Amino acid sequence: MSRSEFTSGSLQLKVPHDAPQRSPSHANLAKFCGFILLVFFIMASYLLSGERKTLLEDLSESTLRDLVRSIGTKVTFRARRVPAVSELLDLDPHMFSVIPQHFLPDVKNPCWYEELRGNVSANPYGSNLFGPLSGNMRIAFERLSTTFRQRLILRDGKLQRLRCLPYFYIIGQPKCGTTDLYERLRLHPDVHLTPPKEPHWWSRKRFGIIRPGDPPLTRFPLDHYLDLFDPVAQRIQHGLLGNSSSSDIITGEASASTMWDSLAWLYLHDISREAEPPSLVQDFIHAVQPDARLIAILRDPVERLYSDYLYFGTSNKSALDFHQKVCKSLRLFDACLRDAGLRACVYSSALYNAMSVRLQVGLYVVFILDWLSVFSRDQLLVLRLEDHTANLTHSMSRIFHFLRLGPVSEQTERLISRRPASNTRHQSDRNLGPMEPSTRELLRLFYAPFNQKLSAVLQDESFTW
Ligand SMILES: *[C@@H]1O[C@H](CO)[C@@H](O)[C@H](O)[C@H]1NC(C)=O
Ligand SMILES: *[C@@H]1O[C@H](CO)[C@@H](O)[C@H](O)[C@H]1NC(C)=O
Ligand SMILES: *[C@@H]1O[C@H](CO)[C@@H](O)[C@H](O)[C@H]1NC(C)=O
Ligand SMILES: *[C@@H]1O[C@H](CO)[C@@H](O)[C@H](O)[C@H]1NC(C)=O
Repeated sequence: MSRSEFTSGSLQLKVPHDAPQRSPSHANLAKFCGFILLVFFIMASYLLSGERKTLLEDLSESTLRDLVRSIGTKVTFRARRVPAVSELLDLDPHMFSVIPQHFLPDVKNPCWYEELRGNVSANPYGSNLFGPLSGNMRIAFERLSTTFRQRLILRDGKLQRLRCLPYFYIIGQPKCGTTDLYERLRLHPDVHLTPPKEPHWWSRKRFGIIRPGDPPLTRFPLDHYLDLFDPVAQRIQHGLLGNSSSSDIITGEASASTMWDSLAWLYLHDISREAEPPSLVQDFIHAVQPDARLIAILRDPVERLYSDYLYFGTSNKSALDFHQKVCKSLRLFDACLRDAGLRACVYSSALYNAMSVRLQVGLYVVFILDWLSVFSRDQLLVLRLEDHTANLTHSMSRIFHFLRLGPVSEQTERLISRRPASNTRHQSDRNLGPMEPSTRELLRLFYAPFNQKLSAVLQDESFTW
Protein backbone atom coordinates (compact mmCIF):
# COMPACT_ATOMS: atom_id res chain seq x y z
CA MET A 1 0.00 0.00 0.00
CA SER A 2 1.37 3.44 -0.90
CA ARG A 3 1.89 6.06 1.77
CA SER A 4 -0.64 8.57 0.40
CA GLU A 5 -3.38 5.93 0.34
CA PHE A 6 -2.62 5.11 3.94
CA THR A 7 -2.81 8.76 4.99
CA SER A 8 -6.04 9.45 3.20
CA GLY A 9 -7.51 6.34 4.80
CA SER A 10 -6.70 7.50 8.31
CA LEU A 11 -8.03 10.98 7.51
CA GLN A 12 -11.36 9.49 6.50
CA LEU A 13 -11.44 7.48 9.67
CA LYS A 14 -11.03 10.64 11.68
CA VAL A 15 -14.07 12.32 10.17
CA PRO A 16 -16.82 10.77 12.38
CA HIS A 17 -14.87 11.59 15.54
CA ASP A 18 -14.08 15.15 14.55
CA ALA A 19 -17.52 16.05 13.25
CA PRO A 20 -19.55 15.56 16.46
CA GLN A 21 -17.17 17.84 18.33
CA ARG A 22 -18.02 20.65 15.92
CA SER A 23 -21.84 20.04 16.12
CA PRO A 24 -22.73 19.49 19.77
CA SER A 25 -26.53 19.18 19.23
CA HIS A 26 -27.83 15.62 19.83
CA ALA A 27 -30.35 15.97 17.01
CA ASN A 28 -27.65 17.00 14.60
CA LEU A 29 -25.46 14.19 15.86
CA ALA A 30 -28.25 11.64 15.22
CA LYS A 31 -28.84 13.08 11.73
CA PHE A 32 -25.15 12.96 11.04
CA CYS A 33 -24.86 9.38 12.23
CA GLY A 34 -27.88 8.40 10.11
CA PHE A 35 -26.26 10.01 7.08
CA ILE A 36 -22.97 8.23 7.71
CA LEU A 37 -24.80 4.95 8.16
CA LEU A 38 -26.68 5.47 4.90
CA VAL A 39 -23.47 6.26 3.02
CA PHE A 40 -21.91 3.20 4.64
CA PHE A 41 -24.73 0.92 3.45
CA ILE A 42 -24.73 2.33 -0.06
CA MET A 43 -20.95 1.99 -0.24
CA ALA A 44 -21.10 -1.52 1.20
CA SER A 45 -23.80 -2.71 -1.16
CA TYR A 46 -21.97 -1.12 -4.10
CA LEU A 47 -18.71 -2.73 -3.05
CA LEU A 48 -20.39 -6.09 -2.46
CA SER A 49 -22.20 -6.08 -5.78
CA GLY A 50 -18.96 -5.05 -7.46
CA GLU A 51 -17.22 -7.90 -5.72
CA ARG A 52 -19.91 -10.32 -6.85
CA LYS A 53 -19.60 -9.09 -10.40
CA THR A 54 -15.86 -9.62 -10.56
CA LEU A 55 -16.29 -13.04 -8.99
CA LEU A 56 -18.72 -14.07 -11.74
CA GLU A 57 -16.39 -12.72 -14.39
CA ASP A 58 -13.64 -14.76 -12.76
CA LEU A 59 -15.72 -17.90 -13.23
CA SER A 60 -16.19 -17.36 -16.92
CA GLU A 61 -12.86 -15.78 -17.82
CA SER A 62 -9.80 -15.89 -15.61
CA THR A 63 -10.81 -18.85 -13.42
CA LEU A 64 -11.49 -20.85 -16.54
CA ARG A 65 -8.19 -19.77 -18.01
CA ASP A 66 -6.49 -20.88 -14.81
CA LEU A 67 -8.32 -24.18 -15.06
CA VAL A 68 -7.07 -24.72 -18.62
CA ARG A 69 -3.54 -23.71 -17.59
CA SER A 70 -3.76 -26.15 -14.70
CA ILE A 71 -4.67 -28.89 -17.18
CA GLY A 72 -1.68 -27.86 -19.28
CA THR A 73 0.72 -28.31 -16.35
CA LYS A 74 -0.49 -31.88 -15.82
CA VAL A 75 0.02 -32.93 -19.44
CA THR A 76 3.02 -35.16 -20.06
CA PHE A 77 3.49 -37.43 -23.05
CA ARG A 78 4.91 -40.72 -21.85
CA ALA A 79 5.65 -43.75 -24.05
CA ARG A 80 3.26 -46.62 -23.56
CA ARG A 81 4.05 -50.24 -22.86
CA VAL A 82 3.31 -52.18 -26.04
CA PRO A 83 1.85 -55.63 -25.31
CA ALA A 84 3.55 -58.71 -26.74
CA VAL A 85 1.71 -60.63 -29.47
CA SER A 86 1.39 -63.56 -27.05
CA GLU A 87 -0.61 -61.37 -24.67
CA LEU A 88 -2.96 -60.36 -27.50
CA LEU A 89 -3.31 -63.97 -28.54
CA ASP A 90 -4.45 -64.86 -25.03
CA LEU A 91 -7.03 -62.07 -25.16
CA ASP A 92 -8.52 -63.14 -28.51
CA PRO A 93 -7.32 -66.59 -29.66
CA HIS A 94 -10.13 -66.85 -32.23
CA MET A 95 -8.89 -63.80 -34.14
CA PHE A 96 -5.44 -65.33 -34.52
CA SER A 97 -6.82 -68.73 -35.54
CA VAL A 98 -8.92 -67.20 -38.36
CA ILE A 99 -6.49 -64.66 -39.81
CA PRO A 100 -3.35 -66.34 -41.22
CA GLN A 101 0.17 -65.01 -40.75
CA HIS A 102 0.64 -64.61 -44.49
CA PHE A 103 -1.76 -63.42 -47.15
CA LEU A 104 -1.90 -64.45 -50.83
CA PRO A 105 1.34 -63.18 -52.39
CA ASP A 106 -0.01 -62.20 -55.84
CA VAL A 107 -2.91 -60.13 -54.54
CA LYS A 108 -2.41 -56.54 -53.42
CA ASN A 109 -5.30 -56.63 -50.94
CA PRO A 110 -4.79 -58.86 -47.86
CA CYS A 111 -6.73 -62.05 -48.74
CA TRP A 112 -6.49 -65.76 -48.01
CA TYR A 113 -8.28 -69.03 -48.62
CA GLU A 114 -10.24 -70.26 -45.66
CA GLU A 115 -11.63 -73.73 -45.19
CA LEU A 116 -15.39 -73.72 -45.11
CA ARG A 117 -16.77 -74.44 -41.66
CA GLY A 118 -20.32 -75.36 -40.87
CA ASN A 119 -23.23 -76.38 -43.04
CA VAL A 120 -22.60 -75.91 -46.79
CA SER A 121 -26.32 -75.82 -47.56
CA ALA A 122 -27.21 -73.11 -45.03
CA ASN A 123 -27.18 -69.41 -45.96
CA PRO A 124 -23.78 -68.27 -44.56
CA TYR A 125 -25.00 -64.67 -44.23
CA GLY A 126 -28.38 -65.48 -42.66
CA SER A 127 -27.28 -64.81 -39.09
CA ASN A 128 -24.86 -61.94 -39.80
CA LEU A 129 -25.40 -59.30 -37.12
CA PHE A 130 -24.63 -56.44 -39.54
CA GLY A 131 -27.63 -57.49 -41.64
CA PRO A 132 -30.35 -56.05 -39.40
CA LEU A 133 -28.44 -52.76 -39.09
CA SER A 134 -28.91 -51.59 -42.68
CA GLY A 135 -31.03 -52.27 -45.73
CA ASN A 136 -27.99 -51.98 -48.00
CA MET A 137 -26.26 -54.70 -46.04
CA ARG A 138 -29.23 -57.02 -46.27
CA ILE A 139 -29.38 -56.58 -50.05
CA ALA A 140 -25.63 -57.21 -50.33
CA PHE A 141 -25.91 -60.37 -48.22
CA GLU A 142 -28.85 -61.68 -50.26
CA ARG A 143 -26.85 -61.19 -53.44
CA LEU A 144 -23.80 -62.86 -51.93
CA SER A 145 -25.75 -65.87 -50.70
CA THR A 146 -27.08 -66.67 -54.21
CA THR A 147 -23.52 -67.05 -55.56
CA PHE A 148 -21.98 -68.51 -52.43
CA ARG A 149 -21.67 -72.12 -53.53
CA GLN A 150 -20.32 -71.16 -56.97
CA ARG A 151 -17.54 -69.28 -55.21
CA LEU A 152 -16.36 -72.27 -53.19
CA ILE A 153 -13.30 -73.93 -54.62
CA LEU A 154 -11.69 -77.27 -53.90
CA ARG A 155 -8.08 -76.84 -52.78
CA ASP A 156 -6.01 -79.58 -51.11
CA GLY A 157 -9.13 -81.71 -51.00
CA LYS A 158 -11.05 -79.13 -48.94
CA LEU A 159 -13.83 -76.72 -49.78
CA GLN A 160 -12.43 -73.22 -49.44
CA ARG A 161 -13.59 -69.64 -49.78
CA LEU A 162 -11.60 -66.45 -50.37
CA ARG A 163 -11.58 -64.06 -47.41
CA CYS A 164 -10.23 -60.50 -47.28
CA LEU A 165 -9.45 -57.75 -44.79
CA PRO A 166 -9.25 -54.05 -45.66
CA TYR A 167 -6.02 -52.93 -47.33
CA PHE A 168 -6.46 -49.53 -45.74
CA TYR A 169 -8.28 -48.01 -42.80
CA ILE A 170 -9.48 -44.42 -42.59
CA ILE A 171 -9.09 -44.35 -38.80
CA GLY A 172 -10.41 -40.90 -37.85
CA GLN A 173 -11.41 -38.44 -36.71
CA PRO A 174 -15.17 -37.84 -36.42
CA LYS A 175 -16.35 -34.59 -38.08
CA CYS A 176 -13.04 -34.20 -39.91
CA GLY A 177 -14.06 -35.26 -43.42
CA THR A 178 -13.74 -39.07 -43.31
CA THR A 179 -17.01 -39.50 -45.27
CA ASP A 180 -15.90 -37.06 -47.93
CA LEU A 181 -12.57 -38.85 -48.29
CA TYR A 182 -14.28 -42.22 -48.49
CA GLU A 183 -16.78 -41.11 -51.14
CA ARG A 184 -14.07 -39.59 -53.35
CA LEU A 185 -11.76 -42.56 -52.91
CA ARG A 186 -14.39 -44.99 -54.12
CA LEU A 187 -14.39 -43.25 -57.53
CA HIS A 188 -10.94 -44.68 -58.22
CA PRO A 189 -11.39 -47.72 -60.51
CA ASP A 190 -9.15 -49.93 -58.34
CA VAL A 191 -10.90 -49.10 -55.07
CA HIS A 192 -13.86 -51.28 -54.23
CA LEU A 193 -15.68 -50.21 -51.09
CA THR A 194 -18.52 -52.15 -49.54
CA PRO A 195 -21.23 -50.94 -47.15
CA PRO A 196 -21.24 -49.94 -44.37
CA LYS A 197 -18.69 -47.13 -44.43
CA GLU A 198 -18.23 -47.42 -40.66
CA PRO A 199 -18.50 -50.99 -39.34
CA HIS A 200 -16.89 -49.89 -36.00
CA TRP A 201 -15.87 -53.49 -35.52
CA TRP A 202 -12.34 -53.16 -34.15
CA SER A 203 -13.27 -50.50 -31.62
CA ARG A 204 -16.80 -51.49 -30.62
CA LYS A 205 -18.78 -54.28 -32.24
CA ARG A 206 -16.32 -57.05 -31.49
CA PHE A 207 -17.09 -56.28 -27.85
CA GLY A 208 -20.81 -56.05 -28.57
CA ILE A 209 -20.88 -52.27 -28.20
CA ILE A 210 -23.24 -50.53 -30.60
CA ARG A 211 -22.94 -46.97 -29.33
CA PRO A 212 -19.89 -45.52 -27.54
CA GLY A 213 -20.14 -45.69 -23.77
CA ASP A 214 -22.97 -48.23 -23.86
CA PRO A 215 -22.53 -51.56 -22.07
CA PRO A 216 -21.71 -54.50 -24.33
CA LEU A 217 -24.45 -56.69 -25.83
CA THR A 218 -23.96 -59.54 -28.32
CA ARG A 219 -20.41 -59.64 -29.67
CA PHE A 220 -20.11 -59.40 -33.46
CA PRO A 221 -17.87 -62.34 -34.47
CA LEU A 222 -14.85 -61.72 -36.70
CA ASP A 223 -16.54 -63.84 -39.39
CA HIS A 224 -19.40 -61.34 -39.57
CA TYR A 225 -16.88 -58.53 -40.09
CA LEU A 226 -15.10 -60.50 -42.82
CA ASP A 227 -18.45 -61.12 -44.55
CA LEU A 228 -18.58 -57.36 -45.21
CA PHE A 229 -15.62 -57.71 -47.58
CA ASP A 230 -16.93 -60.76 -49.43
CA PRO A 231 -18.09 -58.67 -52.44
CA VAL A 232 -14.45 -57.61 -52.87
CA ALA A 233 -13.23 -61.16 -52.30
CA GLN A 234 -15.64 -62.27 -55.03
CA ARG A 235 -14.18 -59.79 -57.52
CA ILE A 236 -10.63 -60.61 -56.60
CA GLN A 237 -11.34 -64.35 -56.88
CA HIS A 238 -12.93 -63.80 -60.26
CA GLY A 239 -9.76 -62.13 -61.44
CA LEU A 240 -7.51 -64.80 -59.95
CA LEU A 241 -9.38 -67.55 -61.78
CA GLY A 242 -9.71 -65.51 -64.96
CA ASN A 243 -7.12 -63.25 -66.46
CA SER A 244 -8.22 -59.79 -65.45
CA SER A 245 -6.04 -57.43 -63.45
CA SER A 246 -8.29 -57.55 -60.39
CA SER A 247 -5.31 -58.50 -58.24
CA ASP A 248 -4.81 -54.71 -58.00
CA ILE A 249 -8.21 -54.12 -56.46
CA ILE A 250 -8.15 -52.90 -52.87
CA THR A 251 -10.78 -52.33 -50.25
CA GLY A 252 -10.92 -50.33 -47.04
CA GLU A 253 -13.22 -49.06 -44.38
CA ALA A 254 -13.65 -45.75 -42.59
CA SER A 255 -14.82 -46.25 -39.00
CA ALA A 256 -14.04 -42.86 -37.49
CA SER A 257 -13.75 -44.43 -34.03
CA THR A 258 -10.79 -46.70 -34.86
CA MET A 259 -8.18 -44.07 -34.03
CA TRP A 260 -9.41 -42.89 -30.63
CA ASP A 261 -12.01 -45.27 -29.22
CA SER A 262 -10.24 -47.90 -27.14
CA LEU A 263 -12.76 -47.33 -24.34
CA ALA A 264 -13.79 -51.01 -24.46
CA TRP A 265 -10.41 -52.11 -23.08
CA LEU A 266 -12.18 -52.55 -19.72
CA TYR A 267 -14.01 -55.55 -21.13
CA LEU A 268 -10.75 -57.29 -22.06
CA HIS A 269 -8.75 -56.60 -18.92
CA ASP A 270 -9.60 -57.05 -15.29
CA ILE A 271 -7.96 -53.88 -13.97
CA SER A 272 -9.13 -50.79 -12.10
CA ARG A 273 -10.79 -47.95 -13.99
CA GLU A 274 -8.01 -45.45 -13.32
CA ALA A 275 -5.37 -47.53 -15.08
CA GLU A 276 -3.99 -47.13 -18.58
CA PRO A 277 -5.36 -49.62 -21.09
CA PRO A 278 -2.87 -52.51 -21.42
CA SER A 279 -3.99 -53.02 -25.05
CA LEU A 280 -5.42 -50.72 -27.71
CA VAL A 281 -7.32 -51.28 -30.96
CA GLN A 282 -4.15 -50.71 -33.01
CA ASP A 283 -2.30 -53.53 -31.22
CA PHE A 284 -4.74 -56.07 -32.66
CA ILE A 285 -4.78 -54.59 -36.16
CA HIS A 286 -1.00 -54.51 -36.17
CA ALA A 287 -0.66 -58.07 -34.86
CA VAL A 288 -2.77 -59.57 -37.63
CA GLN A 289 -2.05 -57.01 -40.35
CA PRO A 290 1.40 -55.51 -39.83
CA ASP A 291 1.37 -53.96 -43.33
CA ALA A 292 -1.97 -52.15 -42.97
CA ARG A 293 -2.09 -48.63 -44.37
CA LEU A 294 -3.75 -45.99 -42.23
CA ILE A 295 -5.22 -42.60 -43.08
CA ALA A 296 -6.12 -40.02 -40.46
CA ILE A 297 -7.81 -36.79 -41.45
CA LEU A 298 -7.81 -34.06 -38.79
CA ARG A 299 -8.97 -30.48 -38.50
CA ASP A 300 -8.66 -27.62 -36.03
CA PRO A 301 -9.80 -29.42 -32.83
CA VAL A 302 -11.72 -26.31 -31.70
CA GLU A 303 -13.88 -26.39 -34.84
CA ARG A 304 -14.11 -30.16 -34.65
CA LEU A 305 -15.59 -30.03 -31.18
CA TYR A 306 -18.30 -27.54 -32.15
CA SER A 307 -19.13 -29.55 -35.27
CA ASP A 308 -19.26 -32.74 -33.16
CA TYR A 309 -21.57 -31.00 -30.67
CA LEU A 310 -23.90 -29.76 -33.42
CA TYR A 311 -23.94 -33.12 -35.22
CA PHE A 312 -24.36 -35.47 -32.26
CA GLY A 313 -26.20 -33.11 -29.89
CA THR A 314 -29.92 -33.65 -29.58
CA SER A 315 -31.72 -30.92 -27.64
CA ASN A 316 -31.00 -27.39 -26.43
CA LYS A 317 -28.31 -26.71 -29.00
CA SER A 318 -27.00 -23.14 -28.78
CA ALA A 319 -23.67 -21.34 -28.53
CA LEU A 320 -24.35 -20.69 -24.82
CA ASP A 321 -25.26 -24.32 -24.13
CA PHE A 322 -22.05 -25.33 -25.90
CA HIS A 323 -20.05 -22.93 -23.72
CA GLN A 324 -21.53 -24.39 -20.54
CA LYS A 325 -20.87 -27.94 -21.66
CA VAL A 326 -17.29 -27.07 -22.56
CA CYS A 327 -16.69 -25.51 -19.12
CA LYS A 328 -18.19 -28.49 -17.32
CA SER A 329 -16.19 -30.96 -19.38
CA LEU A 330 -12.94 -29.04 -18.83
CA ARG A 331 -13.53 -29.28 -15.06
CA LEU A 332 -14.12 -33.02 -15.31
CA PHE A 333 -11.01 -33.47 -17.43
CA ASP A 334 -8.94 -31.49 -14.92
CA ALA A 335 -10.36 -33.53 -12.03
CA CYS A 336 -9.44 -36.77 -13.82
CA LEU A 337 -5.87 -35.59 -14.41
CA ARG A 338 -5.50 -34.92 -10.69
CA ASP A 339 -5.83 -38.65 -9.97
CA ALA A 340 -4.71 -40.33 -13.16
CA GLY A 341 -2.32 -39.95 -16.08
CA LEU A 342 -3.17 -38.41 -19.45
CA ARG A 343 -3.55 -41.76 -21.23
CA ALA A 344 -5.77 -43.18 -18.46
CA CYS A 345 -8.10 -40.16 -18.78
CA VAL A 346 -8.15 -40.14 -22.57
CA TYR A 347 -9.19 -43.82 -22.67
CA SER A 348 -11.53 -43.67 -19.66
CA SER A 349 -15.10 -44.62 -20.45
CA ALA A 350 -16.20 -43.22 -17.06
CA LEU A 351 -14.87 -39.79 -18.05
CA TYR A 352 -16.23 -40.18 -21.59
CA ASN A 353 -19.71 -40.79 -20.24
CA ALA A 354 -19.48 -37.93 -17.73
CA MET A 355 -18.38 -35.28 -20.24
CA SER A 356 -21.13 -33.70 -22.32
CA VAL A 357 -18.77 -32.70 -25.15
CA ARG A 358 -16.10 -35.04 -26.51
CA LEU A 359 -13.03 -32.97 -25.65
CA GLN A 360 -10.67 -35.93 -25.80
CA VAL A 361 -11.38 -36.77 -29.45
CA GLY A 362 -9.44 -33.61 -30.37
CA LEU A 363 -6.30 -34.60 -28.43
CA TYR A 364 -4.93 -35.98 -31.70
CA VAL A 365 -1.32 -36.31 -30.66
CA VAL A 366 -2.12 -38.74 -27.84
CA PHE A 367 -3.68 -41.12 -30.36
CA ILE A 368 -1.14 -40.52 -33.13
CA LEU A 369 1.71 -41.33 -30.74
CA ASP A 370 -0.07 -44.51 -29.64
CA TRP A 371 -0.57 -45.59 -33.28
CA LEU A 372 3.08 -44.87 -33.94
CA SER A 373 3.99 -47.09 -30.99
CA VAL A 374 3.14 -50.08 -33.21
CA PHE A 375 2.98 -48.85 -36.83
CA SER A 376 5.80 -47.13 -38.67
CA ARG A 377 5.49 -43.50 -39.71
CA ASP A 378 5.28 -44.33 -43.43
CA GLN A 379 2.19 -46.48 -42.84
CA LEU A 380 0.24 -43.54 -41.47
CA LEU A 381 -0.88 -40.66 -43.68
CA VAL A 382 -2.06 -37.69 -41.66
CA LEU A 383 -4.07 -35.08 -43.54
CA ARG A 384 -5.77 -31.82 -42.55
CA LEU A 385 -9.36 -31.22 -43.63
CA GLU A 386 -8.44 -27.58 -44.26
CA ASP A 387 -5.85 -28.66 -46.89
CA HIS A 388 -8.14 -31.32 -48.30
CA THR A 389 -10.97 -28.88 -49.04
CA ALA A 390 -8.58 -26.20 -50.32
CA ASN A 391 -7.16 -28.50 -53.02
CA LEU A 392 -9.08 -31.74 -53.53
CA THR A 393 -7.03 -32.76 -56.56
CA HIS A 394 -3.79 -32.45 -54.63
CA SER A 395 -5.18 -34.15 -51.52
CA MET A 396 -6.61 -37.11 -53.47
CA SER A 397 -3.43 -37.60 -55.46
CA ARG A 398 -1.48 -37.76 -52.16
CA ILE A 399 -3.87 -40.47 -50.98
CA PHE A 400 -3.65 -42.42 -54.26
CA HIS A 401 0.12 -42.31 -54.03
CA PHE A 402 0.03 -43.45 -50.39
CA LEU A 403 -2.24 -46.37 -51.32
CA ARG A 404 0.00 -47.21 -54.30
CA LEU A 405 -2.88 -46.66 -56.67
CA GLY A 406 -2.20 -45.82 -60.30
CA PRO A 407 -3.04 -42.39 -61.69
CA VAL A 408 -6.59 -41.86 -62.92
CA SER A 409 -7.79 -40.53 -66.26
CA GLU A 410 -8.44 -36.80 -66.54
CA GLN A 411 -12.13 -37.54 -66.70
CA THR A 412 -12.07 -39.53 -63.44
CA GLU A 413 -9.92 -36.85 -61.84
CA ARG A 414 -12.56 -34.23 -62.70
CA LEU A 415 -15.27 -36.51 -61.36
CA ILE A 416 -13.39 -36.95 -58.09
CA SER A 417 -12.56 -33.29 -57.52
CA ARG A 418 -15.96 -31.94 -58.59
CA ARG A 419 -18.00 -34.26 -56.45
CA PRO A 420 -19.90 -32.12 -53.92
CA ALA A 421 -18.69 -32.34 -50.31
CA SER A 422 -20.25 -35.15 -48.27
CA ASN A 423 -21.76 -35.02 -44.81
CA THR A 424 -21.52 -31.26 -44.28
CA ARG A 425 -23.29 -29.26 -41.57
CA HIS A 426 -27.11 -29.36 -41.61
CA GLN A 427 -28.93 -26.12 -42.40
CA SER A 428 -30.66 -26.08 -38.97
CA ASP A 429 -27.24 -26.29 -37.31
CA ARG A 430 -25.83 -23.58 -39.56
CA ASN A 431 -28.60 -21.31 -38.28
CA LEU A 432 -27.20 -21.62 -34.75
CA GLY A 433 -24.19 -19.59 -35.87
CA PRO A 434 -20.61 -19.92 -34.65
CA MET A 435 -19.51 -20.60 -31.09
CA GLU A 436 -18.94 -17.67 -28.71
CA PRO A 437 -15.54 -15.97 -28.94
CA SER A 438 -14.85 -16.74 -25.26
CA THR A 439 -15.50 -20.46 -25.83
CA ARG A 440 -13.18 -20.42 -28.83
CA GLU A 441 -10.47 -18.68 -26.81
CA LEU A 442 -10.76 -21.19 -23.98
CA LEU A 443 -10.63 -24.20 -26.32
CA ARG A 444 -7.74 -22.70 -28.26
CA LEU A 445 -5.81 -22.45 -24.99
CA PHE A 446 -6.78 -26.01 -24.02
CA TYR A 447 -5.72 -27.62 -27.30
CA ALA A 448 -2.59 -25.50 -27.88
CA PRO A 449 -0.05 -27.73 -26.05
CA PHE A 450 -1.44 -30.83 -27.79
CA ASN A 451 -1.32 -29.19 -31.23
CA GLN A 452 2.22 -28.03 -30.53
CA LYS A 453 3.29 -31.56 -29.71
CA LEU A 454 1.46 -32.91 -32.77
CA SER A 455 3.27 -30.54 -35.11
CA ALA A 456 6.57 -31.59 -33.51
CA VAL A 457 5.78 -35.29 -33.92
CA LEU A 458 4.66 -34.85 -37.54
CA GLN A 459 7.33 -32.21 -38.22
CA ASP A 460 4.75 -29.98 -39.79
CA GLU A 461 3.96 -26.52 -38.42
CA SER A 462 0.52 -26.44 -40.03
CA PHE A 463 -0.80 -28.79 -37.33
CA THR A 464 -0.71 -25.98 -34.78
CA TRP A 465 -3.75 -24.48 -36.58
C1 LIG B 1 -27.99 -77.58 -43.35
O1 LIG B 1 -28.80 -76.46 -43.76
C2 LIG B 1 -29.96 -76.83 -44.47
C3 LIG B 1 -30.63 -75.57 -44.98
O2 LIG B 1 -30.74 -74.61 -43.99
C4 LIG B 1 -30.86 -77.69 -43.56
O3 LIG B 1 -31.99 -78.12 -44.27
C5 LIG B 1 -30.06 -78.89 -43.05
O4 LIG B 1 -30.82 -79.60 -42.11
C6 LIG B 1 -28.76 -78.47 -42.41
N1 LIG B 1 -27.96 -79.64 -42.07
C7 LIG B 1 -27.42 -79.81 -40.87
C8 LIG B 1 -26.62 -81.05 -40.70
O5 LIG B 1 -27.55 -79.00 -39.97
C1 LIG C 1 -6.43 -66.85 -69.51
O1 LIG C 1 -5.34 -66.71 -70.42
C2 LIG C 1 -4.84 -67.93 -70.94
C3 LIG C 1 -3.65 -67.65 -71.85
O2 LIG C 1 -2.92 -66.57 -71.40
C4 LIG C 1 -5.94 -68.67 -71.70
O3 LIG C 1 -5.47 -69.93 -72.14
C5 LIG C 1 -7.16 -68.86 -70.78
O4 LIG C 1 -8.23 -69.40 -71.50
C6 LIG C 1 -7.61 -67.52 -70.17
N1 LIG C 1 -8.66 -67.77 -69.20
C7 LIG C 1 -9.78 -67.06 -69.14
C8 LIG C 1 -10.75 -67.45 -68.11
O5 LIG C 1 -10.01 -66.13 -69.89
C1 LIG D 1 -32.35 -27.89 -21.74
O1 LIG D 1 -32.44 -26.61 -21.15
C2 LIG D 1 -33.30 -26.54 -20.05
C3 LIG D 1 -33.40 -25.09 -19.60
O2 LIG D 1 -32.18 -24.44 -19.72
C4 LIG D 1 -32.78 -27.47 -18.94
O3 LIG D 1 -33.67 -27.47 -17.85
C5 LIG D 1 -32.67 -28.89 -19.48
O4 LIG D 1 -32.09 -29.74 -18.51
C6 LIG D 1 -31.81 -28.89 -20.73
N1 LIG D 1 -31.79 -30.24 -21.31
C7 LIG D 1 -30.66 -30.84 -21.69
C8 LIG D 1 -30.82 -32.20 -22.28
O5 LIG D 1 -29.56 -30.34 -21.59
C1 LIG E 1 -3.66 -27.99 -56.35
O1 LIG E 1 -2.52 -28.81 -56.33
C2 LIG E 1 -1.94 -29.05 -57.60
C3 LIG E 1 -0.78 -29.99 -57.40
O2 LIG E 1 -1.21 -31.24 -57.03
C4 LIG E 1 -1.49 -27.75 -58.20
O3 LIG E 1 -0.98 -27.99 -59.50
C5 LIG E 1 -2.65 -26.79 -58.29
O4 LIG E 1 -2.22 -25.54 -58.75
C6 LIG E 1 -3.30 -26.63 -56.92
N1 LIG E 1 -4.49 -25.83 -57.04
C7 LIG E 1 -4.75 -24.82 -56.25
C8 LIG E 1 -6.04 -24.12 -56.47
O5 LIG E 1 -3.99 -24.48 -55.37
